[in-house]
Amino acid sequence: MCGIVGYIGNKQAYNILIKGLKRLEYRGYDSAGIAIINQGCKIFKKQGKVSELDALVKSKNLHGTIGLGHTRWATHGEPNDTNAHPHESMHKKFIIIHNGIIENYTRLKKRLEDRGYKFKSDTDTEVLVNLIEYIYIKGKLDAETAVRLALSKVVGAYGLVIACTDEKDKLIAARKGSPLVIGVGEQEYFLASDATPIVEYTKSVIYLHDDDMAVIGRNGMSLRNLKSTKIHKKPIIQKLELDVDKIEKNGFAHYMLKEIHEQPRSIKDTFRGRLRPDVNALKLGGLHYVMKDIIHAKRIIIIACGTSYHAGLVGEFLIEEFGRIPTEVEYASEFRYRDPIIYESDIVIAISQSGETADTLAAIELAKSKGATVVGICNVVGSSIPRATMGGVYTHAGPEIGVASTKAFTTQVTVLIMMAMEIGYKNGAIKEEQYSKLIKELSLIPEKISTILKQGDYIKEISAIYKDATNALYLGRGYLYPVAMEGALKLKEISYIHAEGYPAAEMKHGPIALIDENMPVIIIATKDKSYEKIVNNIQEVKARKGIVIAIVTEGDNTISSMADHVVEVPDTEFALAPLLTVIPLQLFSYYIAVMRGCNVDQPRNLAKSVTVE
Ligand code: M6R
Repeated sequence: MCGIVGYIGNKQAYNILIKGLKRLEYRGYDSAGIAIINQGCKIFKKQGKVSELDALVKSKNLHGTIGLGHTRWATHGEPNDTNAHPHESMHKKFIIIHNGIIENYTRLKKRLEDRGYKFKSDTDTEVLVNLIEYIYIKGKLDAETAVRLALSKVVGAYGLVIACTDEKDKLIAARKGSPLVIGVGEQEYFLASDATPIVEYTKSVIYLHDDDMAVIGRNGMSLRNLKSTKIHKKPIIQKLELDVDKIEKNGFAHYMLKEIHEQPRSIKDTFRGRLRPDVNALKLGGLHYVMKDIIHAKRIIIIACGTSYHAGLVGEFLIEEFGRIPTEVEYASEFRYRDPIIYESDIVIAISQSGETADTLAAIELAKSKGATVVGICNVVGSSIPRATMGGVYTHAGPEIGVASTKAFTTQVTVLIMMAMEIGYKNGAIKEEQYSKLIKELSLIPEKISTILKQGDYIKEISAIYKDATNALYLGRGYLYPVAMEGALKLKEISYIHAEGYPAAEMKHGPIALIDENMPVIIIATKDKSYEKIVNNIQEVKARKGIVIAIVTEGDNTISSMADHVVEVPDTEFALAPLLTVIPLQLFSYYIAVMRGCNVDQPRNLAKSVTVE
């Protein structure tokens, strides 16, 4: 959940670190800190945004070519200057930045206190840095050995970077459960939670694996596995497929708005090399080795969290409709703790934008331990989930920096549509004619999204009317029920308006009691087999003086005459309608949040990657 960045080389570290922290701020933004190691070590920490830290430190003209930076999403200890990272050990021998949780920190802290250690912060991280120092001093060891031994006593997750004031020309990095990337430059190295702070300096990167520990000097580095007896591993340098302009706002007021507008392009990138309407073909290379098992599976289980879970719900309907394979969707956080029944013949599909969500990763490990075949749908190349799975499909949406997922959802659904079609076509559940029709319709989706985006100003006008609402209800049926849930999540998370997403028919079983003249009800009601039913639902809302904002198929006069506002989307196959109908809901939440003065890209209490349980 936190962002970490480190630098060792021949340039001044401060600017590299502060710029890196601004890029990583989406991972946590309640406090930030920086340490520059020169003759001694200077540490500055500040509650609040990275810009506040920068304002505090800039004038101090910090010199030094080695440094650490951290932007925090608090787990242990409230967000304040003291709890911010970096943390220094009591005798000032070690400085650490850490992303993750040390689960046994209370026990370790007690032991250190018994040996005279005093703590300034409430964090688990300060316990770890003092444990390293204690082992280092007591054992008269070198820094690398002390870090390794300390980590062997730790239960929990970490991506961390450590500097030792006795061994100034090196940084030590280690990972278990929290991501860490090393950028390899000319006589310089960069470390970060993801590649965004690195890409403008080098495209050569090394992704650390769990239990890897790297010792990095200005002129070289060594890598070892913390658990293995073999000292050195060969670092595998990979080429980064990321451009700087993909991580800039490019003239948009917020990343979220940019990412909403990117969807026609990002879906085309999801299609690239896979969807071939010209030759009526579809190919998912990443599933090549497991497709045979998938098409004959007795059951498919989809696991995910948040927005990815909503995409998974759409996936359930798709796979059951086109592949005719029983499919279940579960919150990864529930699945992993409830001792689920998993058969070796099961196919588990894990969906995650970041590829680092702790609960999804743990659910994958559980499914693997029971012998299931696990595949992933993921956006971030080289992240933990694609590495933990046996095959999968990258969404190729490009970096999603706004904390509220937008293009992640539509590209995940795009992959699920292609998977469901592929399964159904290969196992004979859908015929050539339907397959061809779906390929054609799917290929038209990016252009159709572009036409919806042109209604931005109109949706902004509707948003202005409801910006002060305190509650909202989202309703949809079939494929559009997960879209209702996703619309409600978007509104909640960025505008702090309470919202619920419901299957429209369930309204009568409870939520209808909430409806009065102040309650906006957003009904997703494109034309399909349950259209008449949803028209009835609209009438039920109107009969109770509720306000109806309806998302309808172009040219729908019936609902237009009943609803207070309508937003039209182009016609498509019902199974593809989530890709279109979610767009007005994203824009609606975005404009409402902006008008309420909320920080759209960095909503309170949230972080982009939930790497803690
Ligand atoms: O990276 P993941 O897709 O695994 O993240 C899962 C959720 O944390 C995420 O979808 C979250 O709900 C969204 N940011 C909400 O917009």
